[in-house]
Amino acid sequence: MASSVDIAAMREAQRAHGPATVLAIGTANPSNCVYQADYPDYYFRVTKSEHMVDLKQKFKRICNKSMIRKRYMHLTEDYLTENPNICEYMAPSLDARQDVVVVEVPKLGKEAAVKAIKEWGKPKSDITHLIFCTMSGVDMPGADYQLTKLLGLRPSVKRFMMYQQGCFAGGTVLRLAKDLAENNKGARVLVVCCEITAVHFRGPNENHLDSLVGQALFGDGAAAVVVGSDPDPATERPLFEMVSAGHTILPDSDGAINGHLREVGLTFHLLKDVPGLISKNIEKALTQAFSPLGITDWNSIFWIAHPGGRAILDQVELKLGLKEEKMRASRHVLSEYGNMSSACVLFILDEMRKKSAEEGAPTTGEGLEWGVLFGFGPGLTVETVVLHSVPTTMAGAPQH
Ligand SMILES: CC(C)(COP(=O)(O)OP(=O)(O)OC[C@H]1O[C@@H](n2cnc3c(N)ncnc32)[C@H](O)[C@@H]1OP(=O)(O)O)[C@@H](O)C(=O)NCCC(=O)NCCS
Repeated sequence: MASSVDIAAMREAQRAHGPATVLAIGTANPSNCVYQADYPDYYFRVTKSEHMVDLKQKFKRICNKSMIRKRYMHLTEDYLTENPNICEYMAPSLDARQDVVVVEVPKLGKEAAVKAIKEWGKPKSDITHLIFCTMSGVDMPGADYQLTKLLGLRPSVKRFMMYQQGCFAGGTVLRLAKDLAENNKGARVLVVCCEITAVHFRGPNENHLDSLVGQALFGDGAAAVVVGSDPDPATERPLFEMVSAGHTILPDSDGAINGHLREVGLTFHLLKDVPGLISKNIEKALTQAFSPLGITDWNSIFWIAHPGGRAILDQVELKLGLKEEKMRASRHVLSEYGNMSSACVLFILDEMRKKSAEEGAPTTGEGLEWGVLFGFGPGLTVETVVLHSVPTTMAGAPQH
């Protein structure tokens, strides 16, 4: 018997027409800033490891090669002095770490979200979905709930919490936001990535050098974006359209980046070949993402690549023959903030659209039309988002 309900028409009415679009970006960092040039002295002093003279020299070499100028960290010297177990290499310390991150992750996330909502210019009650992503602070109810309360979002906001994903997740949250925005007409998705290194700060150990690399690279930061399809031209200003999003686990990369949450906090394990594995496989991801557009010249697109470490950017650049300026925004964020895990790519999006406007480029993507956003992280996992820039004139002041 034929149904009197036209399901196809109902589904059509439920969906948006256009691609998910980034409508605003906000970022925040803790006030405590550490300069990389001073960090080896600070780190070995605060962890009472001055006697490890050779290891300190190695740490200096890693810091020098990181191309990081400064980072922000919630943990201050005073706090670390009061909580010596966090400064040990492997002492029970999860309670002290949780006490920090469970409270501070939603708070720093809120700072970024407030800025994004302000730029978006619409009432926060218009937010329909919330995605919160962080490596730390697992709790119930989670950071998504805490942020909903802190911001005063509607209790009916549809929440998604992504804990413990790692550095690739800046791409994952955009992939999810895209699906939500495109499949729910009128949806406005608030995406918040917040990372605080208090979960994995630890003292040095000569048998765990990859942990030392992590201590030299990671920094704290939060970034928020508002994503929606079919922007209202009178009240909203598009920044980047998301045209497609892919996800893959790289072949032969098992164990290349691992993290384990234990009573000693989160420990990190990085193989030296992470930059090699990523660069070896990147062209395949690009080809898959850009063949529908007929794009094969990787210098013709703009680049937002998670700066997990300087060597990752270097090796990708080398492998693809990229011009030096392609990684400018990614290197800038690495230099000014360090590796803020999932938040990094959203900081780079922000840097790119601001610099493009400042320099009078015709589009938000450094004057180019198409771009790629790459998240790299544990697995190895790679997230690939194809971006379409908009004219910088469209991204001008909204007319409220
Ligand atoms: C850390 C980094 C900036 C160092 O720069 P580099 O150009 O590789 O410099 P070097 O090869 O001289 O390395 C510096 C020291 O770090 C050591 N090192 C680098 N990576 C290491 C790793 N994964 N594990 C252990 N030691 C490592 C090197 O052995 C070297 O020690 P040495 O000075 O005693 O010889 C660079 O290797 C990098 O960006 N790595 C990627 C980090 C990463 O995987 N990030 C993903 C996190 S999500």
